[in-house]
Amino acid sequence: MNPPLAAVVLCAGKGTRMKSELAKVLHPMLGRPLAWYPITRAFETGCQQVVSVIGHQGDQVKASLAKAFEGQALSFAVQEQQRGTGHAVACARQALTGFTGAVLILYGDVPLLTAETLTKLVTAFRAGKGPLAMVTCRPPNPTGYGRIVRGAGNKVEGIVEHKDATEAQRQIGEINAGIYVADARFLWGALETLTPSNAQGELYLTDIVAKAAQQGEIAVVEADAREVEGVNDLAELAERAELLRARINRRHLLAGVTLQHPASTFIDEGVEIGPDTVIGPNVTISGDCEIGSRVTIGQGSVLTHSTVGDGTTVKPYSVLEDAVVGPLCHVGPFARLRPETVLDEGVHVGNFVETKKTRLKKGSKANHLAYLGDAEIGSGCNIGAGTITCNYDGVNKHKTVLGDGVFVGSDTQLVAPVKVGDGAFIAAGSTITENVPSNALGMSRVPQTNKEGWAERRRKVLEGMKSKE
Ligand code: UD1
Ligand code: CA
Repeated sequence: MNPPLAAVVLCAGKGTRMKSELAKVLHPMLGRPLAWYPITRAFETGCQQVVSVIGHQGDQVKASLAKAFEGQALSFAVQEQQRGTGHAVACARQALTGFTGAVLILYGDVPLLTAETLTKLVTAFRAGKGPLAMVTCRPPNPTGYGRIVRGAGNKVEGIVEHKDATEAQRQIGEINAGIYVADARFLWGALETLTPSNAQGELYLTDIVAKAAQQGEIAVVEADAREVEGVNDLAELAERAELLRARINRRHLLAGVTLQHPASTFIDEGVEIGPDTVIGPNVTISGDCEIGSRVTIGQGSVLTHSTVGDGTTVKPYSVLEDAVVGPLCHVGPFARLRPETVLDEGVHVGNFVETKKTRLKKGSKANHLAYLGDAEIGSGCNIGAGTITCNYDGVNKHKTVLGDGVFVGSDTQLVAPVKVGDGAFIAAGSTITENVPSNALGMSRVPQTNKEGWAERRRKVLEGMKSKE
């Protein structure tokens, strides 16, 4: 059995260059806060515990991450003053009291880091004899980064920060990505010996590398520079988001999902989509969406936190939010399914239909221009064009309940609370304020009268007035 694994994720920095009120690690990227990514990767790599070191706007960062990782082993350590990366990691020590395995160290602002790279790092660490392993890379421009100093036999001897480096060291192209794994006992001991005797007057985490090198060879995993780059400003965030989006889209394409125009398809991390589903241009699928197989999502649709069953068609420009759509349904075009909408199998909700807190049972149809709110609609119902549930009296919301097989004629208002029994029929143009029993006809409109010849007489009168002018 492998020794246990924990992670420390540094999230205390201010992120001044973001020029934003929002803490850097909370900036959203494809539906998740930045720090969600490295924390998730740490759990995916097998960490039993993850400690997020917080500082700037610590309360907000903690609240947001605690919610995102509810039920998972994420804890928090506060770094009051940002005294350097070494100090930040040391702040997590207490949260890991009694922990004796290996500790991964990650930054909260590096969202593209993959679990594969972390697994490689942990594997290299376990295979090696040294107390530490690290990730390096060779970016096009290494300015600003810590350089990897290698000595005899090309072995890593230490890291020198750009600001402390000699001109010769600044020529080194291999840099420190800031991602490490270290034996816990070695780590806490090495952190105690750090001093701020450097150009920035900080406690450098990087100084523990030279100490580790004295105890055993440091294993190195070289990563693609684009994978381990952090986010310092909103332009970099947009660039990383673009790469992440392409990575997510590619994963779905390779899993049998057709994206008709990947360049305009926005699918959040964590969305699940079944094979043979076809997604049109300009579609956004965000939050915890689950899309089945053989589904079609038409151009311009926006789905958030919604479920769509197998074989359902969502036609163009439909908006779904917190909705559960069953299999073989037809939605849209231009449908709006608001929170707590539930469509059972085979339901049709057509153009300009808005639903909220409403369930339509099997095979029911509301094909045109309707508002259905706080309603329970049985199976096999037909809701005519222009039907409105009047669910709000200005103070409270009330329910409309329809049984099975109800036919609601066009331009009907159902003034809630109101119930319509199974098989009832509502005449078009009715304002229904009383319950309608099963199999009854509910009608509340002025009976029609026809006045014979009226139109012709009227025209003559009008024409007579015109000739006198
Ligand atoms: C660090 C490394 C450098 C490496 C680079 C890669 C050190 C001394 N240097 O430099 O070798 O090439 O990362 O990006 O480690 N943080 C805290 N508390 C602090 C200081 C930092 O939480 O007191 C967090 C920041 O929020 C950030 C991360 O640690 O997420 C890195 O800090 P930063 O100051 O950006 O380090 P660099 O100077 O870039
Ligand atoms: Ca940095």
